[in-house]
Amino acid sequence: MQNVNEETITQIVLACHELAPDPRFKQIMTSVIQHLHAFARDVELTEDELYRGIQFLTDVGHITDDKRQEFILLSDTLGLSMLVTALNNRKPSGCTESTVFGPFFASNAPRYENGDDVANGAKGEPCFVSGRVTGLAGEPVANARIEVWQADSEGFYDIQYDGAESKGRGSLRSLEDGSFHFRSITAESYPIPHDGPVGRMLNALGRHPWRPAHLHFMIEAPGYERLITHVFRHGDRYLDSDAVFGVRSSLIADWTRHERGTAPDGTQADTPFSTLDFTFILNRATAAVQRRNGLGSAHGNDATAGNWRIDQGERIQ
Ligand code: BEZ
Ligand code: FE
Repeated sequence: MQNVNEETITQIVLACHELAPDPRFKQIMTSVIQHLHAFARDVELTEDELYRGIQFLTDVGHITDDKRQEFILLSDTLGLSMLVTALNNRKPSGCTESTVFGPFFASNAPRYENGDDVANGAKGEPCFVSGRVTGLAGEPVANARIEVWQADSEGFYDIQYDGAESKGRGSLRSLEDGSFHFRSITAESYPIPHDGPVGRMLNALGRHPWRPAHLHFMIEAPGYERLITHVFRHGDRYLDSDAVFGVRSSLIADWTRHERGTAPDGTQADTPFSTLDFTFILNRATAAVQRRNGLGSAHGNDATAGNWRIDQGERIQ
């Protein structure tokens, strides 16, 4: 392969992969190379721009560690995460829609009972959350595992602070009738981490880093597809400009505000509080999806970034 030129290089590179043993990897790399070469031709990429792109990815790598996943932020802010979520979560209308997983899930969150306070000291106005987990025909889904996680009123998740204590996250189970309820804090909009290369990229593109207020949920039950989603807060100013493109109108709900007084759990709230009620409708799982989700087995085998992180810790039981 001598005298490679701008006309021949794409086919010559692809020909080098003829013997790649894994057909899926070969398919993916063939497409990546075709698109990268087409992109360079399209914009007539300069050598300086290529170097700056490489420097940018190097910076993304350097800032990434166990607590900060800048590559996920990059994928999220480029809309790639939401595209892959959409491609992999087509479901019948009426089922609760999926949205991005984000980088702030932590496996091994504390287990709670219905009625407990998952805030565990996280700063924010109290919020009383209730809801139901059902199937598409309205059948209650009992004993579903419900994971919730959220940022505090300062806009930070517990894992962004030094120290290991879980705050504003936990797991609980739906009751026999599919219902669940817990206490937490009222979700507020917050900016994604923007003090690194992804923040510089957003700035250079004239974009803001804000996400509308939301509460994350991951719900799993045998016989149903795993649901990874958020509930967004009606009225939030960033619903139409989410930095990671995650808003689905079906996921927007009222966080009803109440003056201080008797809370839904019968206690006296000495500050204003909010209530949220949301029904999650799960899609029935095919055998293949059940296997992919790892339900009923000790280890999952998942393709998404989110599930990759779930698999870093203990499996969901
Ligand atoms: C989140 O909602 O936690 C999130 C999602 C994508 C990027 C950053 C944060
Ligand atoms: Fe979030």
